[in-house]
Amino acid sequence: MIKAVLFPKSRTTVRRCARGAGPALRRPPSARKTPKPFHAAARHRGPGCLNGRVTRASLDKQPHEVASMFDDVAANYDLTNDVLSLGQARLWRKEVARAVDARPAQKILDLAAGTATSSQPFARAGAYVVPCDFSIGMLRVGKERHPWMPFTAGDGTKLPFKDETFDTVTISFGLRNIQDTGAALSELYRVTRRGGRVVICEFSQPTWAPFRTVYTEYLMRALPPVARAVSSNPDAYVYLAESIRAWPDQAGLATLLQKAGWSDVAWRDLTGGVVALHRGVRA
Ligand SMILES: C[S@@+](CC[C@H](N)C(=O)[O-])C[C@H]1O[C@@H](n2cnc3c(N)ncnc32)[C@H](O)[C@@H]1O
Repeated sequence: MIKAVLFPKSRTTVRRCARGAGPALRRPPSARKTPKPFHAAARHRGPGCLNGRVTRASLDKQPHEVASMFDDVAANYDLTNDVLSLGQARLWRKEVARAVDARPAQKILDLAAGTATSSQPFARAGAYVVPCDFSIGMLRVGKERHPWMPFTAGDGTKLPFKDETFDTVTISFGLRNIQDTGAALSELYRVTRRGGRVVICEFSQPTWAPFRTVYTEYLMRALPPVARAVSSNPDAYVYLAESIRAWPDQAGLATLLQKAGWSDVAWRDLTGGVVALHRGVRA
């Protein structure tokens, strides 16, 4: 059973639509306070719709558009991920598992868990894991695959949990999709116990300039055509590419974490910075 359904108010109208500390950890330079601005043009592009379905959210990330888009890709989401990441997604998940370092009886929140593929390593380690997401389509697919897990429907900016409930909170490839990043980071902080930790896995910026150019100018542009071959909704991968380009870099996200109250903020680059693992502690 899926618990505590908290839909964004306008969801129904849309349907009609018009190991943590390693040597490579970096800390944010205190001088750099302002995250990179979002890509202005892409931000104003509207959502994609087909036959009343939201196929692609706009970069304004209206919650109902985002939830609807993920409902639409839920069935093939994990397979498409594996193909489009050229298998890297599995390596990234192993690194998240090392950073979270789940232990038996720990309470872990996996926010924006989708089908709960990201939650599995923590459950296997014996932790009590709550996969939470606001796409009912993703939760449904997850519940079919992992019926024993306490899937919870909830919005990352208004979490349906009491203060200081979890030992560790984590979010993989979800924070970028949440409209109000600061509100989500503050909510994650609120539901974490004192001394508890946050681990964020998210796309970021390759650090080596020549690779960054190849990645942003060529690989990202190749995403939608490749997605056309493997995904039921290639439009969603146009959003994926746009939202990655518009997302703050490693230092920018670290600054947002600090602003939300997290201490000891640091990050580690994976695949040359294509993905970054950020972590922080609730003092
Ligand atoms: C790319 S998927 C990641 C799923 C999973 N964490 C993984 O690594 O496979 C992003 C998820 O974020 C969820 N999401 C986006 N905004 C959200 C919000 N405000 N509250 C809860 N979930 C949200 C979407 O519904 C989607 O399932």
